[in-house]
Amino acid sequence: MLKRPRRNRKSAAVRDLVQETTLTTNDLMYPLFLLEGQNKKVEVDSMPGIFRLSEDQMLKEVEECLNLGIKAFDIFPVVDEKHKDKEATKSYDPNFFYLKSLRRIKEAFPEACIMTDVAMDPYSTDGHDGLVEDGKILNDETLEILGAMALAQADTGIDIIGPSDMMDGRVEYIRDILDENDHEEVSIMSYTAKYASAFYGPFRDALDSAPKSGDKKTYQMNPANQREAIIEADLDEEEGADFLMVKPALAYLDVIKLLKDNYDLPIAAYNVSGEYSMIKAAAEKGWLDGEKAMLEAVLSIKRAGASVILSYFAKEIGIIAKNGSL
Ligand code: PBG
Repeated sequence: MLKRPRRNRKSAAVRDLVQETTLTTNDLMYPLFLLEGQNKKVEVDSMPGIFRLSEDQMLKEVEECLNLGIKAFDIFPVVDEKHKDKEATKSYDPNFFYLKSLRRIKEAFPEACIMTDVAMDPYSTDGHDGLVEDGKILNDETLEILGAMALAQADTGIDIIGPSDMMDGRVEYIRDILDENDHEEVSIMSYTAKYASAFYGPFRDALDSAPKSGDKKTYQMNPANQREAIIEADLDEEEGADFLMVKPALAYLDVIKLLKDNYDLPIAAYNVSGEYSMIKAAAEKGWLDGEKAMLEAVLSIKRAGASVILSYFAKEIGIIAKNGSL
């Protein structure tokens, strides 16, 4: 035999030499859930190890993560039912706890990269990402609300706006509003190919944001489609997005690769709640080695082409990195 691929696997030292992909804490963004009030830390039942945190606890969490080398955070609000309405008005009320806390978090840690989510679902009595009328999700009317939401978030000093709503035309709409208001430096990480996925279940538990009726299939993409991701990516690129995101990640590695091969913008991937909970649940049952499965799953997202990985595993990976065993 002339060729024996096993020669390049014969020892740890040789394997390290030929390793193609390396995961580091630089690749990771940690999604966090912000609660109203003080001194609150409430675990999400379906996401063991993930907590909803009030501002004081959130500040501690961000500090701990920064010390582990995790520097980017995607902060979502947990909105009490009493604050929700049809038009998601709290989402752009500068006195709302979420926006006030974002400002304080950013002031406390100017070196941290903070992303916020633009979509109506956490603030809406309908639990949809857009405005609902007679069971339909209105696109263009929703843009006005998303624009106001994005501007209010940018006004707090955060770094990246993450439109997760999948309305048509929202990247350009938001870019224009940001630019008109002196927020040229605020980036947009577009949820470019966001699929109508069953893997968002635990996230909706965390925020209590499940749709009250119907599903999200008229705006989120059909899991059967790959070429449609190109249509979305072309638009986001033209509309001024700074990052293109694929979501979920693990069931869509082909889509990550497709965008990586066809676009020059950085590709992000969201390793979503259900992907986290599956590994945690199996590990709790002793059915697989949770730490190894986690590292393999997240590495695979990077290997597929993502340079930014949003993952609930970020902090745990940060701890492993700190111990020198990543
Ligand atoms: C809201 C939003 C969702 C997620 C991120 N932003 C849920 C949804 O679209 O229903 C899911 C994240 C996760 O599952 O971890 N538009």
